Amino acid sequence: MSGTSISTALFLLISCLQLSGAASGGSWSLLQPNIGISAMHMQLLHNDRVIIFDRTDFGPSNLSLLAGNCREDPNDQALQHDCTAHSLEYDITTNSFRPLNILTDTWCSSATVSPDGRLFQTGGFNDGDRAVRIFPTCPNHNTDCDWSENPVALSVRRWYATNTILPDGRAVIVGGRKQFNYEFYPKDSNPGVSTLAFLSQTKDPEENNLYPFVHLNVDGNLFIFANNRAILFDYKTNTIVRIYPTIPGSDPRNYPSSGSSVLLPLNATAAEAEVLVCGGAPKGSFILASKNATFVKALTTCGRIKITDFSPTWQMETMPVARVMGDMVLLPTGADVLIINGAEAGTAGWELGRNPVLSPVVYRPDGPSGSRFVVQSPSSVPRLYHSTAVLLRDGRVLVGGSNPHIYYNFSGVQYPTELSLEAFSPDYLSQDSSGLRAVIVTEGSAFELSYGKEFVLGFNVSLLRSKYVRVTMVMPAFSTHSFSMNQRLLILGSKAVAGSSSPRSSYAVVAAAPASATLAPPGYYMLFVVNEGVPSEGVWVHIQ
Ligand SMILES: *[C@@H]1O[C@H](CO)[C@@H](O)[C@H](O)[C@H]1NC(C)=O
Ligand SMILES: *[C@@H]1O[C@H](CO)[C@@H](O)[C@H](O)[C@H]1NC(C)=O
Ligand SMILES: *[C@@H]1O[C@H](CO)[C@@H](O)[C@H](O)[C@H]1NC(C)=O
Ligand SMILES: *[C@@H]1O[C@H](CO)[C@@H](O)[C@H](O)[C@H]1NC(C)=O
Ligand SMILES: *[C@@H]1O[C@H](CO)[C@@H](O)[C@H](O)[C@H]1NC(C)=O
Repeated sequence: MSGTSISTALFLLISCLQLSGAASGGSWSLLQPNIGISAMHMQLLHNDRVIIFDRTDFGPSNLSLLAGNCREDPNDQALQHDCTAHSLEYDITTNSFRPLNILTDTWCSSATVSPDGRLFQTGGFNDGDRAVRIFPTCPNHNTDCDWSENPVALSVRRWYATNTILPDGRAVIVGGRKQFNYEFYPKDSNPGVSTLAFLSQTKDPEENNLYPFVHLNVDGNLFIFANNRAILFDYKTNTIVRIYPTIPGSDPRNYPSSGSSVLLPLNATAAEAEVLVCGGAPKGSFILASKNATFVKALTTCGRIKITDFSPTWQMETMPVARVMGDMVLLPTGADVLIINGAEAGTAGWELGRNPVLSPVVYRPDGPSGSRFVVQSPSSVPRLYHSTAVLLRDGRVLVGGSNPHIYYNFSGVQYPTELSLEAFSPDYLSQDSSGLRAVIVTEGSAFELSYGKEFVLGFNVSLLRSKYVRVTMVMPAFSTHSFSMNQRLLILGSKAVAGSSSPRSSYAVVAAAPASATLAPPGYYMLFVVNEGVPSEGVWVHIQ
């Protein structure tokens, strides 16, 4: 064979592997070609349904409301009489969806799931900027649950704010455009707002500090990253506990220079925590893109910092590909961070992203330094501004959205409004791993854990080569604008597996529930048994 035909053969082989989606690097499937709305915001609830919404003032969507539900809104800037939906409930089990009624404008808003499983969704734009909308806990198979709204529940307007659940179950709502402060929801004795000067200090001419990255640290303080720097903040006393060094390179990482960030998997028996911030756009990119149609290459770096150290430094690593507007998803193995969606150039904002990045990348926090990134199989769908990704209980990642246009626009534009839903299945879901995949057999659809208490988890698996499995717990996150609010993964302390492979392949493991609500704020979590890097399907557990 000549050199050319060898490389042709190789090329064909690689193409085939990519087309079949079977190669290492995960696989993609199209779940719905058209759900009728663009998935700008997504949240998985503990009934295995995902609440999806975009904004009410996008003009007509491609999903009709049920008869008799048209929205009359004199404040809507696009369409005052609107018989289309801007929110829906997607049922994972049946791969079906139904329209929901949302009235006030949810554009660029935020949310938290309350400890009892209801979705508390806050802020937005125009008539929605002080609204709180609650989506109830629908019992299974119930198909008439819908939003209820209070248009003036917040103290101030919250547009591009970030919510974080606290150990006491309330949400703290941080920042938002022109809001250099925070407030709590539900409100208690402190009905007002508290100043946070760090947010005005990190505002630059492009803003670049919207949707701040907020993570609840294991010491109970908030890690807040805005623009290119971070603080550890005690929200109870309104004091800064620690000032972290500016991220090397000083480039901005928050909207519109949207990078992304996660709190790395927490070892629930240790007192340490690390944060990872990846991608973004160099300073000045937003102005160059919007004023000069110049689309600057996105950042290729990730910064990693041990936020529990007294004077930590950023460890910088280089991704295989530059990325702005990526989403980061903690996979249930506790050893992989998926970086997905986004673009190689430009910034967030209308029409400002270029060169979609179709291949996700997995970052392995425990991997050897220098080889932690693994490029995954590409999707065929560009997902730029206003795209989202959330982990599902079965280990897949639900991916949707992308609308870089002021209205829905399907023609005459480079990146049409995207109405499809896809699932990315990481390698661990491949057929090759089926022997290692445990099935959790503990009874009950959602069982109750108690802080600090051990519990027994039964599981079946055909191939168990080690006495140890890992038990992980994941709080489902609210995904929007490249940040997943409340995303949190705990690796639980666990003992050696009991049981034997003969005559049956049934085992049990004793695991310890997280010691406190500071480690694991109250609410619903997905619990997984991970055997040699392959997670079981999760089960819902509740802790309070
Ligand atoms: C959405 O609806 C518009 C108007 O009816 C139509 O022109 C367009 O083709 C639809 N797009 C999709 C993707 O369904
Ligand atoms: C968690 O931390 C404890 C204490 O440092 C250590 O013994 C244990 O091996 C760690 N577990 C994992 C999964 O890293
Ligand atoms: C703005 O765009 C023009 C081309 O349209 C280019 O020549 C110029 O260098 C750009 N300005 C900057 C600061 O990049
Ligand atoms: C879609 O974008 C094109 C190109 O900018 C524009 O001419 C058209 O008016 C847009 N359509 C809608 C529905 O906004
Ligand atoms: C687990 O294994 C036991 C014993 O073989 C079997 O009775 C049970 O049905 C299995 N459960 C699941 C969920 O596979």
